[in-house]
Amino acid sequence: MKFSAGLVSLALASSAAAAPKKCRSTDLPTTLIAGVEVVNTQIVQDAHNLVKEFNELQPYLYNHVVRTWLLGAAALNNNATLKAEVDLELHAVGSLLHDLGWDQRDNTPYNTHKYRFEVESGSAAVNFVKAHPDGKNWDANRLERLYDGISLQTLIGVPDFKNIDTQWIVKSIGFEFPQPRSPLIPEQFYDSVQGNFTNSTLFRGTNDTFTRFCVKDPSTTYNTFLAVFGDEYVPGYTENGARLFDLIQGGIQLELGQYPDVAFTPLPPVSS
Ligand SMILES: *[C@@H]1O[C@H](CO)[C@@H](O)[C@H](O)[C@H]1NC(C)=O
Ligand SMILES: *[C@@H]1O[C@H](CO)[C@@H](O)[C@H](O)[C@H]1NC(C)=O
Ligand SMILES: *[C@@H]1O[C@H](CO)[C@@H](O)[C@H](O)[C@H]1NC(C)=O
Ligand SMILES: *[C@@H]1O[C@H](CO)[C@@H](O)[C@H](O)[C@H]1NC(C)=O
Repeated sequence: MKFSAGLVSLALASSAAAAPKKCRSTDLPTTLIAGVEVVNTQIVQDAHNLVKEFNELQPYLYNHVVRTWLLGAAALNNNATLKAEVDLELHAVGSLLHDLGWDQRDNTPYNTHKYRFEVESGSAAVNFVKAHPDGKNWDANRLERLYDGISLQTLIGVPDFKNIDTQWIVKSIGFEFPQPRSPLIPEQFYDSVQGNFTNSTLFRGTNDTFTRFCVKDPSTTYNTFLAVFGDEYVPGYTENGARLFDLIQGGIQLELGQYPDVAFTPLPPVSS
């Protein structure tokens, strides 16, 4: 008896491990937005409604995250194999919430002013899901994929070796960068997404938001690509003293004090 009960629980455990905790795309309700078929569950609708808050002050932000979602969905819809591999609800929530930390309202609930915006956005997205009535369907693994897809969005190369859900949040954001249209997305969807959710102020809005981080929360921009916006546009901005470079220079001085008799012989110079 004990033995067979053990087998049953082993079988349960392994089937639970084998079946990923995600809904297959075909099981979820869908709707059309700008002609693109997208998942239409309650949590996706609520994530979409949340980002509409940005329309008043930062319309470029609302349009950007919706375009990210729709262009990504159009690419996934275009390849049934790929579509079956990706958690489409996670993709929708992650795409829509991937820049929550850009919120420039003084009382923003989405940015604690302690971390770079990618981290703030990832953490805010996880908090949104945890607080949502349907958040109980998100296990720790799913939340981690959400966090990774958002927090790693600007760390070029890092997402490439993560799971497919993380990769597709980042890839979808990538469709927004200036580049030739991707063959993964049929032309008609580029046209209808662009027509309904314009990118006409995306880069000026991005430049303004990034510069504001350097003014308001400069410490969150040090050792990130954002520091260039401070150097270029913010009088008095400097990350000198806070760079990893500075930390290592300080280490050299400490080391020379502690080990005055130890010689260091550099490797032969490299030719460039
Ligand atoms: C569709 O996606 C699958 C899985 O990523 C990939 O192997 C395949 O090459 C793709 N097909 C096309 C036509 O792009
Ligand atoms: C705006 O989006 C359209 C369609 O995606 C694209 O063809 C165009 O190059 C984009 N413009 C900019 C400035 O990125
Ligand atoms: C908006 O999307 C619809 C499809 O839902 C499309 O028919 C329409 O042409 C798009 N609007 C513009 C201005 O492109
Ligand atoms: C970028 O944004 C900053 C701050 O708003 C502004 O001073 C600067 O002129 C902008 N750059 C361009 C090229 O528009």
